[in-house]
Amino acid sequence: MQNTWAAEITRLRSGHVLPPLRTEVDAERSAAMINVNKKCLGLILVSCGILTLALFQPWSNGSSLTINIEPRLESPLNALFEEKLKDGIHDNQHIGFHLKQNVARQLAHNTCVCQADKQTVHIPFSDLLFPRVWAHSVNQAFLESHPDPEGVARRRAQEYSSFQRRSYNPADLPIIAEANSPLQYPTQGVMVRPLKTIIVPGLALKEEKSSDHMVYLRAKLGTFDVAATVEQVSVVGEGTSIIRLSSRLLSNLNRQLQFVTYTNTVFHPKTADTVEYGSGGHQVFFSIKVEHGAVPKLYNSGSHKEYNISALVTIATKTFLRYDKLQDLIHSIRQYYPTVTIVVADDNEHPQPVTGPHIEHYIMPFGKGWFAGRNLAVSQVTTKYVLWVDDDFIFTANTKLENMVDILEKTTLDLVGGAVREVTGYTATYRHIISVEEGGEEGNCLHIRKGYHHLVEGFPNCVVADAVINFFMGRTEKVQQVGFNPRLARAAHLEFFIDALGSLHIGSCSDVIVSHASKIILPWTKKDSQKAYEKYRYTANDEQSLLHKEVFYFRNRFKCMTSN
Ligand SMILES: *[C@@H]1O[C@H](CO)[C@@H](O)[C@H](O)[C@H]1NC(C)=O
Repeated sequence: MQNTWAAEITRLRSGHVLPPLRTEVDAERSAAMINVNKKCLGLILVSCGILTLALFQPWSNGSSLTINIEPRLESPLNALFEEKLKDGIHDNQHIGFHLKQNVARQLAHNTCVCQADKQTVHIPFSDLLFPRVWAHSVNQAFLESHPDPEGVARRRAQEYSSFQRRSYNPADLPIIAEANSPLQYPTQGVMVRPLKTIIVPGLALKEEKSSDHMVYLRAKLGTFDVAATVEQVSVVGEGTSIIRLSSRLLSNLNRQLQFVTYTNTVFHPKTADTVEYGSGGHQVFFSIKVEHGAVPKLYNSGSHKEYNISALVTIATKTFLRYDKLQDLIHSIRQYYPTVTIVVADDNEHPQPVTGPHIEHYIMPFGKGWFAGRNLAVSQVTTKYVLWVDDDFIFTANTKLENMVDILEKTTLDLVGGAVREVTGYTATYRHIISVEEGGEEGNCLHIRKGYHHLVEGFPNCVVADAVINFFMGRTEKVQQVGFNPRLARAAHLEFFIDALGSLHIGSCSDVIVSHASKIILPWTKKDSQKAYEKYRYTANDEQSLLHKEVFYFRNRFKCMTSN
């Protein structure tokens, strides 16, 4: 394949007019045709006619054409790009250099490591005073406890390679622009809807006078044509994936280039075609995005001078064995927001009624769990924003939802966390930075650190982070998009933010405060319901602990993690 590609470029350079490149469909069609012909030879005459008819039947209907829609990670283009990268490097290999360690170290090496901090200070309670980074091998923890470690590792590798194939976009391919190219072309921003036609903007040739000027364009997922013809320009290959334009007059050729069209022919809702554009000894590449584009999901929340919280926000919570706490929460919300909708997901064994105006109580099968409840509650929200609260929180005069709405309305943040005041008076914001390092075949490295990225301009109490506390307001649509993995039944929180990495823009404000109702109760004074709750929530049963390991090992494909 590579050789024929290179040969064709050489032939193009030497000015031969090429027959249009056969597309995948053509190739399959002619392969089938050869088959038919062979069979015809064998069967002779009458039966052959019938067979031919039968075989060609499906093609009379255009929609039954089969097209290979597999994106190819290893295309001849990749090889060509690599060759070009090397070209530039060859002539200066003999020149020495001095490595700048502090900068070079910051470059990703494609082999991440999870390293724990060494204990440097030896005083009592030093770990509390100077929290150290700890490291944990996800691979070891999970594979050790798995009956078939090789099998599960193989399945993870298979699933991952199929994920890469599905998420690959040819527009992510690095493209290098060569020095002194006479070709003018668009470097980004060209987009076509699937199977539609556009004018390719910005094409031109700027070169010295010569007796003949020629350019060609080649696509993989579409065809070229011209929307108008210009005198004294010859156009070859209209309606095919490779078009060649030539003229003795450079200005006429450039005029003609303003009318070149591209038509996408292979349907994909979101991909890109890498177009090759060349002239003489020069060739460049650029991408044409092929995509439907996103359809917006807008919320009509009415028109108000001030934020109408009831129209904009739904409060969602999940309850389990704590009806007394839930009632306190609802009561406290009603003091400040009498008409805001409250959605309660409930997976108790013996559900009790939770009634009142603007309350939706959803009863789930017993013990479905924490994230399943969050998922159900959030799925029922119809307002623009959803506020997540735990069932043992209490609203106070400091629980100003207007502040959260304000920052979400005025910035690009998708989700903003508040602060939780404990009974002791301590107020927690729980801000974390999450990063994932590329780690080759073994899996990636997950790093979690306390802290935030930067302040938010105009909101002195707010910062940008990757994970926040259990009290947050988000754009309903974005929170629903990320979702809560319903298999995580107990003690899960960061998992949502790991899933949200790269799709949610997250903030945290310390001036919106909710109170935590649960006191630290001595075990012998605990009510029975409290004891039962803690048994479910905190007892790490084997099944759940294995599941957490599996989520990190298999679902998120981590090999290890560090945190502080
Ligand atoms: C606020 O929104 C709610 C729900 O949409 C509505 O019933 C109420 O009349 C609105 N309040 C004001 C002051 O507009």
